[in-house]
Amino acid sequence: GDAVELKSVDWKHGGIFGTYDRASAQRGLQVYREVCAGCHGLGLVAFRTLSDLGFSEEEIKAIAAESEYQDGPDGDGEMFDRPGKPSDSFPSPFPNEQAARASNGGAYPPDLSLMSKARPNGDDYLYSLLTGYEDAPADFNLAEGMAYNAYFPGHQIAMPSPLSADAVEYSDGTPATVDQMAKDVTVFLAWAAEPKLEQRKSIGLRVILFLLILAGVFYAVKRKVWSDVH
Ligand code: HEM
Repeated sequence: GDAVELKSVDWKHGGIFGTYDRASAQRGLQVYREVCAGCHGLGLVAFRTLSDLGFSEEEIKAIAAESEYQDGPDGDGEMFDRPGKPSDSFPSPFPNEQAARASNGGAYPPDLSLMSKARPNGDDYLYSLLTGYEDAPADFNLAEGMAYNAYFPGHQIAMPSPLSADAVEYSDGTPATVDQMAKDVTVFLAWAAEPKLEQRKSIGLRVILFLLILAGVFYAVKRKVWSDVH
């Protein structure tokens, strides 16, 4: 397809001092759980890591317990289902890829754990994709069951527009516009793909500061050592 310029968002977690907008990421978790999780998995993210986003241990236990996991074998050699624990990862909605494709007209809804890193300018891409559903141009040959998206390569996507106004009712009262939900779920998925972004940036800053001070010390030493040479 022809290259389309992505919508550019001034993410709070961008730049060298950037940190995640916690309130936005928390709302994004709600969008992920209530909308995206119907088709997509998030298998590299353990529930316990939600503490990063400000969730309490009790809240995390409650979120984890809403999914079921197969465990075992028990003492009798039987497998059994149990509620999720904080150490479990977000479940996949389908048992395997074949089942996922069978439910999605042959297309595979990819795991979203690393999606923010998997496409160039991943955060702008996610936001653009989620807000990029349009009517196909009259001369566009859209296949049966496919949707037109301005930002998907080739414009023809097997994911139906996942967001519509008020698709979720935010627990913090924020109006759930498509734009708001797209931003929030993007922040959540950015955090999911790089939970240590803030530590990385702060270590980087301290390293630069250290090197600047060290350079000053070296310069002072150099001046001292060479002070007698005329
Ligand atoms: C693909 C995100 C909800 C079905 C994708 C992709 C992303 C994504 C980033 C990959 C696009 C690419 O390859 O560049 C999301 C988010 C959702 C959501 C953030 C929630 C807001 C859903 C739902 C369904 C679904 C509810 C099923 C009804 C699919 C399918 C594909 C896909 C079938 C593969 C599309 C293709 O390759 O043509 N989604 N999705 N998604 N999604 Fe979703």
